[in-house]
Amino acid sequence: MTARILDGKRIADELLDRIAARVAERVAAGRSRPGLAVVLVGADPASGVYVKNKRKACAQVGFRSFDYDLPADTPEIDLRALIDRLNADPSVHGILVQLPLPAHIDATAIINRIDPRKDVDGFNAANVGALVLRQRGLRSCTPKGVMTLLAHTDRPVRGQHAVVVGVSNHVGRPMLLELLLAGCTTTSCHKFTRDLAGFVAQADIVVVAVGRPNLVKGAWIKPGAIVIDIGINRLADGSLVGDVEFDAAAARASWITPVPGGVGRMTVATLIENTLEAAETFFD
Ligand code: GUN
Repeated sequence: MTARILDGKRIADELLDRIAARVAERVAAGRSRPGLAVVLVGADPASGVYVKNKRKACAQVGFRSFDYDLPADTPEIDLRALIDRLNADPSVHGILVQLPLPAHIDATAIINRIDPRKDVDGFNAANVGALVLRQRGLRSCTPKGVMTLLAHTDRPVRGQHAVVVGVSNHVGRPMLLELLLAGCTTTSCHKFTRDLAGFVAQADIVVVAVGRPNLVKGAWIKPGAIVIDIGINRLADGSLVGDVEFDAAAARASWITPVPGGVGRMTVATLIENTLEAAETFFD
C-alpha cells in the first residue's frame, strides 16, 4: 500500500478561509473583530518563526493582532502585569505566550494566570481539566488539529487502536485524551516503554510526538495504519524531518502526514479557530 498524504497545509488553509468568512460576517453584523495577543519573550530563533506564522495567520483571517516582543531579561512581575492588562482588555479575545520562556520566569504560573476564556493555546490547568472532564473549554491546539486531520481521512476514528508515542504536557498527554474521548482504545508509549516496535505494530492510528528524527521505523507500521508525525527536527544539512521514517512508513500506511506541511500548519490554524471560538463563546 502507498499512503495518501494527509495534507495539513491544504486542510489548514481551508479552515483559515472559513474563519476569514466568519470574521467578515461578524464584523459586517456590528460584532467585534477577534483579537489575538501574541507575547514573545527573548529571541529564540525557532520561537521567532512560530510567532511570525501565528501573526501572519491573524492577518490572513482579519483578526486584530497585538504583538509584544519583550527582552529576554524581562522581570516576571512585568510579564504578570502584561497578562493582567490583556485579561482585562475587551479587544483581546485570545492570549498566547510563546514557550519556552526564559529560565527565570515560572512558565506554569504565567500560563495559569491567563484568563481560561482567553487561553487559546488550551494550556492552562482549567482548560486541561475541562478536557479531562469533557466540559466546555479551549482545547490544546496540536491535539485538536490532529483530530481535525483525522476527520479528513476516509477511516473512522471510533473503535480504532491508537498508539501515542510521547507524553508531553501540551501534546502527548492531551493527544491521548482526545483519542480516548473520540472512542479509540489508547496506548501511551514513552521512554520507559520496553517494546516500542511491538506497540506501534498494533496501532491502527499512530501519533508520534517526541522530537527525535526517525525514531519510528517504517517497518513497524501496521499495513493500512494512519501515521501522524508531530515531530519537527532540523538536521545538520538544514532540512526538516519528523519522528517517523517517512518513505518506509508511507509504503505501508493508508494515510500519513508530511513534515513540513502536516501537523505544524494545523496547529497554527487551530489556534486561530480557538480564538474565534473564544470570541463567540465567551465574549459576544
Ligand atoms: N512553543 C512551541 N509550540 C508552542 C505552542 O503551540 N504554543 C506556545 N505557547 N508555545 C509553543
